[in-house]
Amino acid sequence: MEYLYFKNADEVSDRAAETVLEVLREKSDAVLGLSTGSTPLGLYERLIRAYQEGRADFSKVRSFNLDEYVGLSPEHENSYGYYMRHHLFSHINIAEENAHVPSGTEKDYAAYCREYERKIESVGGMDLMILGVGENGHIAFNEPDEKLSVHTHVVDLTEDTIAVNSRFFRSVEEVPKRAVTMGIGTILRSKKILLLATGVKKSPVLRRLLREPYFSTEFPVSFLFGHRDVTILADEGARGGM
Ligand code: GLP
Repeated sequence: MEYLYFKNADEVSDRAAETVLEVLREKSDAVLGLSTGSTPLGLYERLIRAYQEGRADFSKVRSFNLDEYVGLSPEHENSYGYYMRHHLFSHINIAEENAHVPSGTEKDYAAYCREYERKIESVGGMDLMILGVGENGHIAFNEPDEKLSVHTHVVDLTEDTIAVNSRFFRSVEEVPKRAVTMGIGTILRSKKILLLATGVKKSPVLRRLLREPYFSTEFPVSFLFGHRDVTILADEGARGGM
C-alpha cells in the first residue's frame, strides 16, 4: 500500500485526476469504478474541465458505481444516480448505457446483484477504482461487521453511517436504512485502486490503517492490504498528527 501526502484536498484531486487521465490515455475504453460522497467532487470537477478543454475523451469509457441507497430512484436528489449525473455524467461524453450506477428500486435484489457482478465481469473488471472511506472504515457501503460479503449485495447501514450521511438529507429520518453495494471482493478485483482521504475526520481511519496492519471485518478498509496496487492520496488534515 502506497501513501502519498498532499497539502490540501485540491492537490489530492489534482493527483487523482492525473491518474484517471493517464489510465484513459493508455486505454481509451477503460473501466472505471466510481464513488460518491464529498471527497471525489474535486476529482470530478477536474475531469469535466479536462473534457471541456479537449484533454479527455470518455466516449468509450465504461463506469460502475460502488453503491446506491435502497429506496431512492435516480430522480431523487439524494440518490447516487442523481449525484453522478449532476456532478459528472451530464457534463462529459460518457454514453448513458456505459455509465452504471446500482439501482435503488429493485424488487429482486438477489438477481439484480448477480447481474451487476456479471456486467462488471463481462467488461473484464475495473481498470481503476476510485474509493473514499467512511469515518468508521467502510468502503463503498461495506460496513464493519462479523462477516463481509464478497460480491455485490444489500446491506443494513449502521447508525454511525446514517448519522454521518444525514448531512446530505433534510433530517436523519430521511436517510435510507439499507443500501446496495459492491462487495469487498468486487472492489479487490479492480486492477488499480486509489483511495482518497481528505480532512481531519479521516485521520483516525488513516492512523488505524498505518498502525494496525491486520485484516479485520470490523474495519473493512483493512481488506485493501490484500491488493497489490493501492495508493492512498491524503491531505494534511487526513494525515493528522502522523
Ligand atoms: C459514503 C459512501 C462511500 C464514501 C464514504 C465517504 O457513505 N457510501 O462510498 O466513500 O461514505 O464519504 P465522504 O467522501 O463524503 O466522506
